[in-house]
Amino acid sequence: MKAVRLHSFGGPEVLKLDELQMPQPREDEVVLRVQAASVNPIDWKMRSGKSGLKREQLPVVLGRDVSGTVELCGVDAHTLRKGDPIYAMLGWDRGGYEEYVLVKAVEGAVKPSSLDHVHAAAVPLAALTAWQGLFDHGGLKAGQRVLIHGGAGGVGHFAIQFAKAKGAFVATTVSASGIDFTGKLGADQAVDYKAERFENVVRDIDLVFDLIGGETQERSWAVLKDGGTIVSTLAQPSEEKAKQRHARAVVYMARPNAAQLNEIGELIDAGKVRPIVDATFPLSQAGAAQQKLETEHTQGKIVLDLAA
Ligand SMILES: NC(=O)c1ccc[n+]([C@@H]2O[C@H](COP(=O)([O-])OP(=O)(O)OC[C@H]3O[C@@H](n4cnc5c(N)ncnc54)[C@H](OP(=O)(O)O)[C@@H]3O)[C@@H](O)[C@H]2O)c1
Repeated sequence: MKAVRLHSFGGPEVLKLDELQMPQPREDEVVLRVQAASVNPIDWKMRSGKSGLKREQLPVVLGRDVSGTVELCGVDAHTLRKGDPIYAMLGWDRGGYEEYVLVKAVEGAVKPSSLDHVHAAAVPLAALTAWQGLFDHGGLKAGQRVLIHGGAGGVGHFAIQFAKAKGAFVATTVSASGIDFTGKLGADQAVDYKAERFENVVRDIDLVFDLIGGETQERSWAVLKDGGTIVSTLAQPSEEKAKQRHARAVVYMARPNAAQLNEIGELIDAGKVRPIVDATFPLSQAGAAQQKLETEHTQGKIVLDLAA
């Protein structure tokens, strides 16, 4: 089978299309024939040596989420059956840029029937990150006010829709091209972060969902209500500032979760949430796909279409 592997750290050109043996499932795993795999910022961070990945661990297959069809089942993978269309966020020990991948039963859920594989592959990592950030860590409730930094991107575009479906007021920071895009997703207030300082126009926020870090996170204390929460996917917000404001400050890593993917799939099939795919690339152009995500104003997700 074909797989895109990282052999050394560097630019998009270091990704190589290799021939590998088909994987064999352990008891709690299935072999998925991958029809689409999405591209996430962690992929280009791993490729360029900007993640915790070490040289001794190479070569590795990149890619954190997939959609495809179950080909082979381990004896204990009871929740998944041969022929099932599955989408999944993968554990760190595997990658999705390949024609067949092992998926653990606890990672994979039947994909929403309203989505094709390309759109289903756009969901798992980004949507689980948004779900876990807003609800598990942020405790977002109906009627609250959330500020989502980076609302036009992979995680942000799901976060806006989940927060609206929950009944929250949603403010978001985006570049100019994201204002219309995030408005159509339901955002109540979109601030062009290049034209305006968000703290001048956003106030009384219960939850800041920070997908940017750095000074964006730092300046967010100014808009947070006393007793509010800052949740970040990137860096621990200041514990000292949190204490002064009786606030919570959380950084977290998203985890695979089949049960949450089932809940997210129900929202998608009910028409309340839609994944947006900005562009697709064939597997052989994974490097170009990563480069687009890293350097351009992507709206929603970039996906590798293995049927292309
Ligand atoms: N901890 C975890 O488990 C976890 C999980 C998923 C993602 N992450 C991290 O979370 C971040 C977001 O992920 P993603 O998949 O959503 O990335 P993405 O698809 O690349 O989106 C990032 C978005 O941020 C916007 N942006 C850039 N600078 C900004 C600023 N100063 N203010 C507001 N928006 C800004 C970009 O828009 P423009 O280009 O138009 O400015 C883009 O729409 C990444 O750094 C990723 O590595 C962490």
